[in-house]
Amino acid sequence: MQEQIEKIKKNALEEIEKVQETKTLNEVKVKYLGKKGELTQVLRGMGELSPEERPKVGNSVNKARSEIEKAIEEKEEKFANQELQKKLEKETIDITLPGSKIKRGSKHPVNRVIEEIEDLFVSMGYDVVAGPELETDEFCFERLNLPKGHPARDMQDSFYITNEYLLRTQTSAVQARTMLANTEKTPIRMICAGKTYRREDDATHSHQFGQVEGLVIDKKERNVSLADLKGTLEIFVKKLIGKNCELRFRPSYFPFTEPSYEVDVSCFKCGGKGCSLCKQTGWIEVLGAGIVHPNVLKMNGYDPEKYGGFAFGTGLERLAMFKYEIPDMRYLYANDIRFLSQFDRKDEE
Ligand code: PHE
Repeated sequence: MQEQIEKIKKNALEEIEKVQETKTLNEVKVKYLGKKGELTQVLRGMGELSPEERPKVGNSVNKARSEIEKAIEEKEEKFANQELQKKLEKETIDITLPGSKIKRGSKHPVNRVIEEIEDLFVSMGYDVVAGPELETDEFCFERLNLPKGHPARDMQDSFYITNEYLLRTQTSAVQARTMLANTEKTPIRMICAGKTYRREDDATHSHQFGQVEGLVIDKKERNVSLADLKGTLEIFVKKLIGKNCELRFRPSYFPFTEPSYEVDVSCFKCGGKGCSLCKQTGWIEVLGAGIVHPNVLKMNGYDPEKYGGFAFGTGLERLAMFKYEIPDMRYLYANDIRFLSQFDRKDEE
């Protein structure tokens, strides 16, 4: 019987050694260790043995069984490893492949203009300030010498949220805010760019647009004059748009400046000869400006006998159109990447 067990064991180990795949391995397992397997058969025949021999044979069968089990386990493990290896090989990532590029957006031309203006004015000693877009009637109009019922309010048809609150129609509101907030009543040099809103919408107007505001207040003896305003605006426009730009001051009216001016720039398209863009005049209006009205100084805590200065305001879309020679304002709102991405290149030139 011992011989038989040894033989079964030997055969089993040989077969296991030869096995190439999991399926045959399972068959071998059943053949030797299963309920009807060869070793089990040996155990069944133990009844015929003498009581002394039984434990010996039982022992041998168990030993053979665990040896065969161990061999099968090792083989199973080997197969599992091979399979994993194959899977890993299939799944390797080729790191030499070029990745797919993430598209970067580009800065909007209006934001480019804002940054450039802020840099320029900071270099001349101005502070960059900001104000709320949801503004009060008080700051947008009243403190700028435009009391309720003033006819000049009609020039700026507005979005009122309540009787007191509206979307600001002009960044000039920030003039009043800056003067009032400066409790020490020291000189002011500020620039403020931001969004403004008016209830109008046609080919050349949008209900939302950008403005930039400038305000300079100083002691009377410093004599901040119209000449300073002119010089400042000339630097501003020539730096931003081009050295060859000409400026023209025309008398105008704003309730918060006196005297007031509208400032024209020679047409970038025709250079001043006259074309369809400038309506054959050679000039395009870009800025409102003037000497700060004494009432505005007074209403915001500055003594007009002791202080004076100038203010100006302009539309950002206009400036962007001039600077980049954009023929139609609507491009600025269309959010078309083909249009917007062109300016990356333009600024490098
Ligand atoms: N706020 C004026 C406008 O929107 C422009 C302006 C600003 C005029 C400052 C004079 C001084 O038309």
